[in-house]
Amino acid sequence: MRNIFLIGFMGCGKSTVASGLQRMYGMKVVEMDQLISERQGMSIPQIFEQYGENYFRDLESELVAEIQGMENQVVSCGGGVVLREQNVAKMKENGQVVLLTAKPETILERVKYDNNRPVLKGRKTVAGITELMEARREKYEAAADIVIHTDKKSIPKICEEIMQKLAEREK
Ligand code: S3P
Repeated sequence: MRNIFLIGFMGCGKSTVASGLQRMYGMKVVEMDQLISERQGMSIPQIFEQYGENYFRDLESELVAEIQGMENQVVSCGGGVVLREQNVAKMKENGQVVLLTAKPETILERVKYDNNRPVLKGRKTVAGITELMEARREKYEAAADIVIHTDKKSIPKICEEIMQKLAEREK
């Protein structure tokens, strides 16, 4: 089984779905942000604040490159991983890319009390989220092998749908 890269906007459920795939299908999980944060010994907001976004994006690209050579992993990517084409190319080489989507209203509900996402600072409104989502939409869609809408679906249902759609593509 090849790797699965979960991409999508912040708060669309990548980490939760990755845990679901682990539980249901025994896949190993790589949680990109957590790994970056552990290795740096700093939280994501601290990295942004101290070294800037570009530095964080470099760490992110290095990690995507590292996943080369791994197998049967579900990689829960940072929401901005698609911003660099080189990351998308590497993900496509090393696995299948699954885009999770959710409505801005759903995203807002999930992120409104969260201060761990520097990119959302000052944007925690439906309009702010919609604007950034629209600015990234083309990149998310171009990167995706399959798209899964997550609104109002249970985690097991989402996981099953991912596996079904991926299997159909392989036929
Ligand atoms: C980011 C998303 C975050 C994290 C960082 C930047 C983004 O990950 O990588 O704060 O630019 O969309 P999540 O999507 O897991 O929140």
